[in-house]
Amino acid sequence: MHAPTRFMVLTLLFILFTASTAIASSNIYIHLLNPHYGSGGHKHPDLNCLSWRLAVETNNLQNWTVVPLACKDYVGHYMLGKQYRQDVDLVTAEAYEFAKGLNLAGDGMDVWVFDIDETTISNLPYYARDTVGFGAVPLNLTTFNAWLEEAAGLAIPGSLKLYKKLIALGFKIVFLTGTEEIHREARTKNLKAVGYTTWEKLILREAGDGTGVAYKAKKRKELEEAGYRIRGNMGDQWSDLLGNNAGDRTFKLPDPMYYIG
Ligand SMILES: *[C@@H]1O[C@H](CO)[C@@H](O)[C@H](O)[C@H]1NC(C)=O
Ligand SMILES: *[C@@H]1O[C@H](CO)[C@@H](O)[C@H](O)[C@H]1NC(C)=O
Ligand SMILES: [Mg+2]
Repeated sequence: MHAPTRFMVLTLLFILFTASTAIASSNIYIHLLNPHYGSGGHKHPDLNCLSWRLAVETNNLQNWTVVPLACKDYVGHYMLGKQYRQDVDLVTAEAYEFAKGLNLAGDGMDVWVFDIDETTISNLPYYARDTVGFGAVPLNLTTFNAWLEEAAGLAIPGSLKLYKKLIALGFKIVFLTGTEEIHREARTKNLKAVGYTTWEKLILREAGDGTGVAYKAKKRKELEEAGYRIRGNMGDQWSDLLGNNAGDRTFKLPDPMYYIG
């Protein structure tokens, strides 16, 4: 009698825990999709949105400016649903498998480079706004910068877990973001608030730094010239990962909401 009773209690606890975790974690992602948004706009009945997303993730589609209106709801459901999270979790788990096989010199110079937006911090509450439409509306820098200043971005769970494990393995963390230097305080506040409490360097973009691949490659070169060894490099944009001094291995996280060249 005892064994089944205990089993049932454990099962119930498990269900409750799972349910409360699901509720807690879905709370932060609840932003109602407006099913009518953009319905008066252009539809592209021939566009398969899964094919579009795959082409985006593989860098076969480049220099696109907005999510096709026909794929706005698709991208919204992808980002808010389980698939996005699972896609991230698989990549971050693989990154950990790679990282734990590396021999660190123990001199504090082995670093892991993380991008910030859509890599360690999610801007989904901003992108889910009706006025942003998951990237189907051209980016409004005024409202986006105001959002950055709120420092209210969310941790991407898989990335936060990887971050903590990398630190436990002895890696130093470098955050390298295209965010402009004027937002340093807000970015620092946001990172710390969601659990990224420590780092070796937080590199933001200054005037004259350039953009995209050129900017990121330049900063990575400076890091390695200063003696750091980039053992891993993770980003949501190909421009985080291409170019010189890319790191021993790169990891691409999904992001069908915007493209930075
Ligand atoms: C995208 O833009 C970059 C920079 O202007 C250019 O080098 C590249 O060829 C473009 N890619 C495509 C597919 O047009
Ligand atoms: C961006 O948003 C601001 C604030 O809502 C608005 O005043 C402005 O017109 C928008 N800019 C564009 C290009 O839509
Ligand atoms: Mg990013």
